Amino acid sequence: MTNSFRATPHGGKLVNLVVDGQRAAELKHLSRDLPAVALSDRQLGDLELLMNGAFSPLRGFMNRGDYESVLERMRLRDGTLWPLPICLDVSSAEAERLAPGQPVALHDAEGFMLAVMHIEDIWAIDKRREAEQVFGTRETAHAGVEDLFNRMGSHYLGGRLEGIQLPLRFAFKRHRHTPAEVRILYQKLGWRRIIGFQTRNPMHRAQFEMTLRAMAEAKANLLLHPVVPRVQPGDIDTYTRIRCYLEVYRHYPPNMMLLSLLPFYMRMAGPREAVLHAILRKNYGCTHFIIGPHHASPGRGPDGSPFYDADAAKRLALSFGDELEIGIMAMPELVYVPEEDAHLPAAAVAPGAKVSSLTDDEFHRRLRTGKPVARWFTFREVIEELQRAHPPRHRQGFTIFCTGLSGAGKSTVARVLYARFQEMGGRPVTLLDGDIVRRNLSSELGFSKQDRDINVRRIGFVASEITKNRGIAICAPIAPYRMTRRQIRRQIEHYGGFIEIYVNTPLEVCEGRDRKGLYAKARAGMIKGFTGVDDPYEAPRVPEVTLDTSDMTPDEAAQEVLLFLEREGFIK
Ligand code: PPS
Repeated sequence: MTNSFRATPHGGKLVNLVVDGQRAAELKHLSRDLPAVALSDRQLGDLELLMNGAFSPLRGFMNRGDYESVLERMRLRDGTLWPLPICLDVSSAEAERLAPGQPVALHDAEGFMLAVMHIEDIWAIDKRREAEQVFGTRETAHAGVEDLFNRMGSHYLGGRLEGIQLPLRFAFKRHRHTPAEVRILYQKLGWRRIIGFQTRNPMHRAQFEMTLRAMAEAKANLLLHPVVPRVQPGDIDTYTRIRCYLEVYRHYPPNMMLLSLLPFYMRMAGPREAVLHAILRKNYGCTHFIIGPHHASPGRGPDGSPFYDADAAKRLALSFGDELEIGIMAMPELVYVPEEDAHLPAAAVAPGAKVSSLTDDEFHRRLRTGKPVARWFTFREVIEELQRAHPPRHRQGFTIFCTGLSGAGKSTVARVLYARFQEMGGRPVTLLDGDIVRRNLSSELGFSKQDRDINVRRIGFVASEITKNRGIAICAPIAPYRMTRRQIRRQIEHYGGFIEIYVNTPLEVCEGRDRKGLYAKARAGMIKGFTGVDDPYEAPRVPEVTLDTSDMTPDEAAQEVLLFLEREGFIK
């Protein structure tokens, strides 16, 4: 197999589900009267890979028979090797309004029509069973299980697809290819043996050296084939990652590698997923595929042990032998040996020789704090790219989120901080005080739980945009509900700092101040659902800073916040 002339597609023939112009026009016309399903990013990726043949021989989202067969024996009903379900999940409400035998229009979030699916089956997902069979665990610390249990719908739709138009992709277009397109390119370039390399992280020296070794061993060219969607929250953002690949690209000998982006949303299913990765690359014409240690691994479970052992993916892929029809290259992890100035497999290092290593966590810590990273670890251009996207804290944006009862002093502290940051200069500052927001963004909202949540989420959205663009957002709503504050924190910490300031001034003091006379009205029953009186305030459990303004001046309170920011490196 390893000497074959480009890989035969899985199942023998490359599928193309995009119909011709005339049928596309008919389908578009027809779809106006069809029920529609809007696809998530993950589903959009699956649809694209189905339509362009990357998932050959699948001709649509799996029906129930194939799904069951894949769960039970890693094969489609006709016996073709296939390790993971590729199904379309929907909510129970959506499942109820659809029926087998019916065509349904699939479109993207903007309503752009992409395909028609002819529904064959609709079934409720037995998520516990799927988790156990696909992931080998029901533990939601596993990213794939968490997705299945908490983000995916309750039902699957299965059925044949007729593609109208591939999903629109605007970024890095010259690095996006269908399997048919890369196959034509290989032919043009005279590439006969091609190694597929899958990655979801920026490439550093160890991975670069590993691909060079694999290329030399197999006398092959390289398809650098990173998945595009960001997989886990801590991962480097996609655009930065791709810019890093473009930098690494320049370090390969000329005409030796092709960078192509794969719109596949990883499930982190370890061994089963590694087999799917190999099948995908086979469809992209690769004759070889690299499986590294911990391939498609979601890391460790709550007990500290890995979900899959380091060699599980390699073992499963190799267990299929020739049936997989792609040369599996199980590459060892490389370590840096300073004495030799080389990256070598750990097993090849002379006993007692010094080796250098840097864990991912330590690397990210260095990145965050602006500490230097050794050249043996990564290329200078890569580190510059990463540093540009992940500046040290004093150049990142952050959100100051003051929460507390009405009259607690949130707005005053917020205003003092606003003035201090303006004095310091260096970052744009926006004050999103409760009243300002209610006047400008949320004037139609009242104080029901639902309205407060909408209001606070709007503040969170604006603050996250400001933080993303490296500014300072100062927010001062009551924001009485813990869950909503937690969601906002998650959204903002993606881009920079989230500093929760609990203005913990006792209710008696706030009520004693009663600057707006609202407590008196609430006590008299003239205002209903007033926070602290007849509506709950859920105090933060671990705020970054707690202030009680009953015994400190606004300047002193603001100073506490500034001291925290300095300690944590947000200001210098
Ligand atoms: S929330 O819960 O975060 O959406 O509230 P927020 O947008 O910060 O608005 C709070 C201000 O609105 C006035 N107000 C009330 N507060 C609490 N409960 C009820 N029912 C209510 N009705 C009006 C009050 O003056 C709050 O202002 P601050 O600045 O907090 O004193």
